[in-house]
Amino acid sequence: MGSLIKQDIELLISYLREKKYIIEIGSGRSTKLISRNIKDDTVFYSINLFPISKINKLKNVRYKIGWLIKYEDFILPKDKDFVKASYNNLPDGDVVFKGKSFMKGECDLLRKIITEQGRGPDVFFCDSGEYSALPEWKIIKPYMVKNSIVAFHNIYHEKQQYYFLSYKVL
Ligand SMILES: C[S@@+](CC[C@H](N)C(=O)[O-])C[C@H]1O[C@@H](n2cnc3c(N)ncnc32)[C@H](O)[C@@H]1O
Repeated sequence: MGSLIKQDIELLISYLREKKYIIEIGSGRSTKLISRNIKDDTVFYSINLFPISKINKLKNVRYKIGWLIKYEDFILPKDKDFVKASYNNLPDGDVVFKGKSFMKGECDLLRKIITEQGRGPDVFFCDSGEYSALPEWKIIKPYMVKNSIVAFHNIYHEKQQYYFLSYKVL
């Protein structure tokens, strides 16, 4: 729960050392730590809604800025899986409650990466927060194959119930 702690990252890194292709959702400290612990030929994508200057400088990170999903992927108040938690201050909340016009910038980055690479990742690390977790899992699930790894951060956090729902559909 809470921010990623050293032990979370160490555990994640212990699983991804031999992996060749990683997608991370939600950039930050984790991106820096992962980038330091992968091999030179590992393809590492990190998706984030906003640019973070320090991440931009990491040479071995393919940094994608924008929405990982498209509008149609959002779980809206009319959907059966909708959970109203504390989304009000998040950009995702604006899109869900106010509409598609709040979705500025590039969209659907996760599908674009899969198309670019022609397959799903060896490691999928989800740390986007409460809104997108279930939609992104629905997108990536058909592409995850035997021995690939999915890691959701904060799966039991009360504000991040979509992670919990993702866990239930695993
Ligand atoms: C919890 S933070 C990531 C923390 C990071 N992993 C770390 O270790 O510092 C979540 C990030 O996900 C991004 N995010 C949330 N929803 C998103 C979406 N629909 N598309 C792209 N990025 C999104 C936010 O911009 C935010 O920066």
